[in-house]
Amino acid sequence: MRLLGTGAFVRAARSARLTVLRPALSAPSVTLTLGTSRQQSSHAVASNPVRSTFPQQSNLDDAEKSDIDEPRAAGGTSDRLSDFERRLLNQENNSVWRDAGLAGAKISGKTYMLDATSNLSPSILPLVGRRLYNIPNHPLCITRKLIESVFSRWNFVNHTAENPVVTTQKNFDSLGFPADHPGRSRTDTYYVNSDHVLRTHTSAHQVAAFEHMQKTNSRKYTICADVYRRDSIDKSHFPVFHQMEGAWCWTVGDKNPRKRFEMFHKRKDMIKNSLKEIPGLGGRLVRVEDAVHHHKSNPVQLEHDEEVTSLLSEHLKRHLEALVDRVFTEAAAAGVGGENAADKPIQIRWVEAYFPFTSPSFELEVFWQGEWMELLGCGIVSQPILNKSGLHKAVGWAWGLGVERLAMMLFGIPDIRLFWSEDERFLSQFQEGKITKYVPFSKFPACYKDVAFWIPSSPSAASPLEARDVGVAAAAGGDATKASPTETQPAAFHENDIMEIVRDIGGTLIEDVRLVDEFVHPKTGRKSLCYRINYRSLERTLTNEEVNDLHRQVTEKLTSDLHVELR
Ligand code: DAH
Repeated sequence: MRLLGTGAFVRAARSARLTVLRPALSAPSVTLTLGTSRQQSSHAVASNPVRSTFPQQSNLDDAEKSDIDEPRAAGGTSDRLSDFERRLLNQENNSVWRDAGLAGAKISGKTYMLDATSNLSPSILPLVGRRLYNIPNHPLCITRKLIESVFSRWNFVNHTAENPVVTTQKNFDSLGFPADHPGRSRTDTYYVNSDHVLRTHTSAHQVAAFEHMQKTNSRKYTICADVYRRDSIDKSHFPVFHQMEGAWCWTVGDKNPRKRFEMFHKRKDMIKNSLKEIPGLGGRLVRVEDAVHHHKSNPVQLEHDEEVTSLLSEHLKRHLEALVDRVFTEAAAAGVGGENAADKPIQIRWVEAYFPFTSPSFELEVFWQGEWMELLGCGIVSQPILNKSGLHKAVGWAWGLGVERLAMMLFGIPDIRLFWSEDERFLSQFQEGKITKYVPFSKFPACYKDVAFWIPSSPSAASPLEARDVGVAAAAGGDATKASPTETQPAAFHENDIMEIVRDIGGTLIEDVRLVDEFVHPKTGRKSLCYRINYRSLERTLTNEEVNDLHRQVTEKLTSDLHVELR
């Protein structure tokens, strides 16, 4: 999962991390030495009286699962539907329909008009609505339930959200994304139209979930849903994946202002006591490094108390460690990771991060198959978000993770495309409530083909495909994006556009696409790129003719849509 934060950047720039070296197989419970961050006295309790009051007991329904989809945002109610939209409603679900110069999409049973911003590609809509996280014997559903079970003893309310179309307001603005955040660009995000996107993260529902919290007097939730990103193609990236998000808030519920100070202390004690209830780790997990709970580069929010922030950060990190511990313990018990996996230590580390909607913010990384891999992002919820949701008196933490990534580790599933397989040889291997090691049913041969081309020096017709089809100029995204992974170059060309074309033509027959050569002509300054496309089906052997035909279509489309010149 590529997180929407800037952890890697922050990491490169700062060295404020506290290192806690641990011997392998150390004692099960991990104790943390608090960091060396500068004390921020302006946040001291006495000089910054806290507005909150002491929490009432919340009555949560343990088994509750709600769906936080909200009413259709665009186009008004059905009696205001235009004739076009009415006819669009009769079309096939999750498809685009054009008539008389208009274009619209029907997604999750609702209608949306397309416009010049639309960049829905043909391969993406058929993937909407599968709800893999809801199919009991599917590994993603089993993983979701495992994650929910880690938090269930604290009575989390578990949400799902079916319709992936959300407003840009929800996906970005409500969470404080700046106007120039790269996540907003058309090269990274699927726009249904200028006001609606296929959600890029479950955090798009954070405000709705906090509002639900406020109304129901619950204090903890998870959300699971499918999310969509234009991205690279390899064994761990697919344009649709699943995220899960969790949050826990504390309020102080006494309205008497004279009791606020006392209540504030009570809340602190509650968090401290709650820390003691976090389950001990199984002994396999080794925390290599911790990030200090806050730092001037990863600050306590203006309205927050420093000690409470430290306690919440500690509480958050220890819960997530318990989650990761559970995943690896279950995986080892199923024999994933080889014989004696249970005896092999797993290294994790916390790193400072930046998300627009939390501060301080962290990412958790795990050392997996020889490299550090991001598992999740998290932090202390931005107070304006809680305030907006009616939770003025609450403070809280939140996290978000990619479900596929955990499921791949849990079951030993080597390729993210497998989750979309309808092949019985895959599906029959999994059973509700059980963690079992995935057994490859066969490895079919791969066939790679290279495509080399000169990239245009002027902006290309940007992304696929619908905008052009509805007769609207497909304006380039306009962001300063990467020409290739190694170099920044403004606008003319974006690697994700190649990925999208390859995916539209090859679908799940593409295993990965990699840049293998890059060359700048010494005289003309023109740049040439060479990509290697690896074709491999997970279910059968591809014929030569089939691969040649796919590759011909890819090269033709690269030329016609991106105006590259083949070499
Ligand atoms: N939504 C973030 C992403 O996709 C992950 C995340 C980070 C979720 C921090 C959170 C959070 O709820 O508090 O990159």
